[in-house]
Order: sequence, then structure tokens, then C-alpha cells
Amino acid sequence: MNSAARAARRGATPARAPHRRAEPEAFGPGKVILLGEHAVVYGHPALAVPLSLGVTARGTPAARCELGGLPDLTAPQRRMLDAAFDAVASATGRPPLRISLSSTLPVSMGLGSSAALAVAVSRLLLDASGKRPTPSKVLALALRMEQAFHGTPSGVDHTVSAHGAPLLYRRPAPGRQGRVRQVRIGARATLVLALVGPRRGTQETVAALRRRAARWPERYGRLFQQMGRLALEGTAALEDGDLESLGDAMNVNHGLLAAAGVSSPALDTAVDALRRAGALGAKLTGAGGDGGAVVALFRKPPVAGTLEHTGLGVLTSELEPTA
Ligand code: PMV
Repeated sequence: MNSAARAARRGATPARAPHRRAEPEAFGPGKVILLGEHAVVYGHPALAVPLSLGVTARGTPAARCELGGLPDLTAPQRRMLDAAFDAVASATGRPPLRISLSSTLPVSMGLGSSAALAVAVSRLLLDASGKRPTPSKVLALALRMEQAFHGTPSGVDHTVSAHGAPLLYRRPAPGRQGRVRQVRIGARATLVLALVGPRRGTQETVAALRRRAARWPERYGRLFQQMGRLALEGTAALEDGDLESLGDAMNVNHGLLAAAGVSSPALDTAVDALRRAGALGAKLTGAGGDGGAVVALFRKPPVAGTLEHTGLGVLTSELEPTA
């Protein structure tokens, strides 16, 4: 199991009932999509791994079930969050807790911050209402929150967050839970996540691509199919420990995402800089559009200072071979 997955599993530890511990808490990890974003919306597979970064939800006893203040949100974001929270609070019988959130994930960068939040809050509320936060219950509730944030998400983000393990994910039909296969990691590697800059919301980027795909279905259908095949090939490569093949699949996937119109000059520049710095492969991750993050695969953590000239803010996450 990789370090991220271990951290995620720690997060999966059910929060104790309020009468046994004054401040129950639950964790939802972020995720990074290695292959297959956007195509996954159209039923093709995607490969994603959890991060050790994520969102922690803490509850303190209160007169009613409420979500504490979040200083960094705009008014529309706050309204969206309140609506999402209300759906989960009402489904869990509104346990009397004031929930505060803390996050180590950059928000709206394609690293699954909203899904991590949904998973952390769902786990906490399920546990506080005396229901065991099993993965299927967490998934069902977190999906309701994700729908409030993103409309019709494929489900890959909150599914990886709830399982806390590398997954090959496929969405079966809109509104239903996706099919998952846990993926083994065959070789140690380092993921470098470069934060390129703010971007428009996932829903907007997905909707713009959907309009193009509806207008030219065969052309975009071919692209999505190729992305799905890359996700399958990359998964086999990861399980075999063939990092060169996985990196190549990521490079080709970036080309297809650019062809689909969801990259940007800044994302392409970051991808290029990371490849020049020795990445086996690099691509945009998540919805992309006009910003967001790039993921790059390295055999070993890049030597300190190697990436400084890129001017990019970077995070790293280790992939550890499955025991
Ligand atoms: O919200 P993001 O940037 O993590 O993107 C999620 C991945 C997409 O495939 C673009 C959307 C989806 O619902 O799967």
C-alpha cells in the first residue's frame, strides 16, 4: 500500500461516537488522476490514486447540526457548500454537531478537494448518527454532496477518496455508483504535482467539452475511447512496475486532452518543463481548462532545486509498491 493509501486508511478509521470522545473527526484524502479524466464522464475507465493531503472534518457538540465558518469561500461557493451539507445532514438525521473543516489540499486545482470534503463530512455525520461509515454508505452520501458541487460528476474523485486506494474506475450509468478495481503498485515512484494556477470550475469545463462532443460525436468519441485504452494500458504498466510505459501513456494522454481542448498554454508549458526536468511522463490532471494542476511521474524524488527554474509551486506524493 502506498503512503497516501495508508494515510487514507488512517482517515477511514471511524470517528468515535460523541459520548466517548468530545471531538470526533474524520479524514477524506484528495486524489490525482493519472489517466482518463474527461473520458471517464463518458463511461471509459480512469486510473487515479489517493493523496496523503486531504480534508479533516471535526465535530463539537452543539445545539443543532451546522457547518462552521470557512473564511476563504466566496458567497456563491458558500451557498453551494451549505446546500451540499444540508443534503447530507438531513440524510443522517442532523446529529447535533458543529462541524469545522481544515484542509491541506489546494482548492479547485483538480486534486479532489471537494470530494475529500464530501467524504470527510459524510464519514463524520454517519458515525455521529450511530451508522457505521461503511465505504458504500460514505460513497452514497458523498456523491450527493459532489452532485451539489459538480452537477453530474463521474464519481471518480469521491470513490478514490472513500476507498483510499489506487483504483481503476468506470462509471456505469449516470447517478449510480461506479465500478472499481483496486490497482496494485508494482514499483516505487514519485508523483510531482505542479500547481499551475486558478481555473474555472470543473462543471464549466466538462460542459464546454460536452457541447463539442455532442456536435462532433464520432471525432470526440474516438478521443475518449483512446483515453480509456490508455487508462487500461497504464494500469497494466503500473501493476507490472513498467514506469516508462506508464509515463509514456501519460504523455500521450496529455496530447489527447489538449486535442479535446482542455489544456492551456500554461498547462502545456508546465508539462514541458517537467519532462525536461526528467519526468518519465507528465500531463494535466483533473478537469484542466484554463489552469489547475499537472502531474509528473519520476522514478525517484527530483533532486532539491531541480524544479526551481520552472517557477512552479510543487507538491510530491510517493507511490509505494503494494506489499
Ligand atoms: O474536478 P476535477 O478537476 O478533479 O475533475 C474531475 C475529473 C473529470 O473527469 C474532469 C470530471 C469527472 O466528473 O470525472
